[in-house]
Amino acid sequence: MANFVVSFVALFLFYIFQQSNASYNVITFGAKPDGKTDSTQSFLKAWSAACSSASPSIVYVPQGSYLLKAIVFSGPCKNKITVQIDGTLVAPTDYRALGNSGYWILFIKVNRVSVFGGTLDARGAGFWACRKSGVNCPGHVHLLIQSITFNWANDILISGLTSINSQSMHLVINSCNNVLVRNVRVTAPALSPNTDGIHVQISTGVTITGSTIQTGDDCISIGPSTKNMLMSSIKCGPGHGISIGSLGNTVNEGGVENITLTNSIFRGSDNGVRIKSWARPSNGFARNVVFQNLIMNNVKNPIIIDQNYCPSNQGCPHQSSGVKISQVTFRNIQGTSATPEAVTFNCSPSNPCSGIILQDIKLTYMNKAATSSCKNIGGTSSGVLMPASCV
Ligand SMILES: *[C@@H]1O[C@H](CO)[C@@H](O)[C@H](O)[C@H]1NC(C)=O
Repeated sequence: MANFVVSFVALFLFYIFQQSNASYNVITFGAKPDGKTDSTQSFLKAWSAACSSASPSIVYVPQGSYLLKAIVFSGPCKNKITVQIDGTLVAPTDYRALGNSGYWILFIKVNRVSVFGGTLDARGAGFWACRKSGVNCPGHVHLLIQSITFNWANDILISGLTSINSQSMHLVINSCNNVLVRNVRVTAPALSPNTDGIHVQISTGVTITGSTIQTGDDCISIGPSTKNMLMSSIKCGPGHGISIGSLGNTVNEGGVENITLTNSIFRGSDNGVRIKSWARPSNGFARNVVFQNLIMNNVKNPIIIDQNYCPSNQGCPHQSSGVKISQVTFRNIQGTSATPEAVTFNCSPSNPCSGIILQDIKLTYMNKAATSSCKNIGGTSSGVLMPASCV
């Protein structure tokens, strides 16, 4: 009987212990919600308290505005961590204060981290203006500063985050497994350079859902070595669309595989769905891709595969892409094109696209049927096809 009571009490305590989340409020660690005082060290202290907690913990950021310089939240941590952000995180007004690391907010080697809410304001306008002026801005070209990045992270949830005016990419998922991004909002001007909304690469099992992205580069871009990715209920535009690529930048490159985009809307974007690769040798590939149930509103290139990407004709003149594109389905895509050619397949002469499936496409240009063009492509078409299929 005594034994029974002891184990019952132990079980009860274990239950309480499991339920109790230690909470670390950044204000307790000295953060100031005035938008002016540098709160970087306070956030780091709250993070390290949470990270060394044996029970699940919360890092809490109350309402207000917090100035953060470049900050790294590193793991691995002892247990799962929830970062609840009710406030706004702002970068220094002078972008030079972020240094040359390429990151503003970086999570590295963390597992089981959830980020709820929060607004990130990277105040990118000064940096964009510097780039436009052509002088040598810090980070220009090689180390553009991303607003929030997850490197080597697993089991991540990002929910309800808002990112505005990043200096370059807003949210980057790099070398991660099992990431859910939901109800995220990204905003930057249509002409802000390289401000991709969400960039994913070298990652498996990334889901992006219910998100609105209005920015100056790709709404979502998918880099090499990415597989099992699902995107749904995305609103994109302005922006450069949802792109797989650029692929084939290097000779040895992991492929992109099993990618689905469904139930999404594009509005005034430069592209709708796009696969692009550099026109140079590579063993990269993109296969088993589905783009379905999409609405295009006034989109310049609603459907495009471009394997002849060679900006400024540098490093690839007269070459063709080694990237193999196969088993790509475009299904139930309707709406309006902003240019006469709504469907463009410009595949590699040395590695033609294969297994391209077109089904129920209805895209018009100024109330008339749009056109399509095909180079080096094989596949099948069925259902209603407007423009007529060239596959
Ligand atoms: C493809 O990716 C989805 C996630 O989007 C996953 O559920 C499915 O198992 C993957 N399929 C294969 C064959 O790996």
